[in-house]
Amino acid sequence: MRDHTYSQPADTGHLPRHTAFERPLTREELVAWHRRARTRSRALFQIPVEDAWYDRPIPLRNPIVFYEGHLPAFAVNTLVKLARNERGIDPRLESLFEQGIDPEDETAVRDPAETWPAREEVQAYARAADAMIERALLELGDEPVQIEAAANIIEHEFMHQETLLYMFHNMPYERKRRPAASSPTPAAAGRDRGAPKVVRIPRGRATLGGDPSHFGWDNEFPQHVVHVDAFEIDCFNVSNGDYLEFMDATGAASPHFWVRDEGKWFWRGMFEPVALPLDWPVYATHEEAEAYARWRGRRLPSEAEYHRAAFGTPSGEERRFPWGDERPDPTRGNFDFASWDPRPAGSWPAGASAWGVHDLVGNGWEWTSTIFDGFRGFQPMATYRRYSANFFDGQHYVIKGASPATARELIRGSFRNWFRPNYPYVYATFRCAR
Ligand code: AVJ
Ligand code: FE
Repeated sequence: MRDHTYSQPADTGHLPRHTAFERPLTREELVAWHRRARTRSRALFQIPVEDAWYDRPIPLRNPIVFYEGHLPAFAVNTLVKLARNERGIDPRLESLFEQGIDPEDETAVRDPAETWPAREEVQAYARAADAMIERALLELGDEPVQIEAAANIIEHEFMHQETLLYMFHNMPYERKRRPAASSPTPAAAGRDRGAPKVVRIPRGRATLGGDPSHFGWDNEFPQHVVHVDAFEIDCFNVSNGDYLEFMDATGAASPHFWVRDEGKWFWRGMFEPVALPLDWPVYATHEEAEAYARWRGRRLPSEAEYHRAAFGTPSGEERRFPWGDERPDPTRGNFDFASWDPRPAGSWPAGASAWGVHDLVGNGWEWTSTIFDGFRGFQPMATYRRYSANFFDGQHYVIKGASPATARELIRGSFRNWFRPNYPYVYATFRCAR
């Protein structure tokens, strides 16, 4: 390990700039931000009951134990070893927990207790890693690779918090417990029935990608402008009620989040089933979304159309967020762990876009018709070269926006997420365009 007596430069121009904060963070603020992220992760790992630790709630993903080790090991691998070129803590654990990609081979079926260490060992590793990361952040150098690594590990933590929650969503209720400190479900009035249902958006431009002076993942760059032809788009997400009509008319199967019990439909809620709320956005796969849109004589919006609907304005200027330039807060939508499940569509009029399109950020990610790929000029990022490029295979679609389990810090116009078209677990909804 390097011996550091390095004092912090007074000039903060070389510290990470992040869209969630007005000014570059000091090293102390970075430590506090990382600590807040870790505190929430630790709280989320309390949701499964103790003996569910080796459970694999989603059969093709790793068991819960993997994620509790992956988060600290990823931080050490990325910030300490790769970006700072220092030694880590335990090469065996850092290799075991390195792989963020889901198992495809026999490790998926082997007895998890043989593959994975005891929970105490993983938690002891995590404590050592947290201390090492805090020290590294306090001593963060001003090379771009270190700046990138600091934001990378914190955003990685947030992304996995969402992954954990949709994974836990699939656990039997008796294998999990609702955190005592969880916030009350926010009140949500639903949509104004008099509001327009569809809006026409004239041809215009949309800026895709992020400002290079702020942190973003490699797939957010380079920033560029695209032309978007005129189109029509739904002002509200397709609801469970709408989807039920489609099922009744076509015999289509029900989405993964629905369960049928004694002839009645229920929503598979995070901590309890609820009689199917007809006014909530339907969580569906890309395949289900496309089939629904086709049945209505419509289609899914493209990524560029999402941008135009979310950030475009009649005057031609573009906004940072659908509602304007103010940072996200709970009046704008259902995100940042405000709720375990969606709420009625259209409940956040203060979050609507300039065109009156609701819930573009929050209450469920939005499927697009765009296959995930790099923008022209894409460069893999130094601190995670496979982050996106591994998925440029034509098999994944872009989702935009945010779900109830998306941290406020991940909410920015350029953030892109992606999944396979038949992935049923993610908190994703859709709306139709034409
Ligand atoms: C961008 C959400 C699709 O969960 O696989 C976490 C994020 N990548 N660790 C995922 C990710 C590596 C990724 N998604
Ligand atoms: Fe990961």
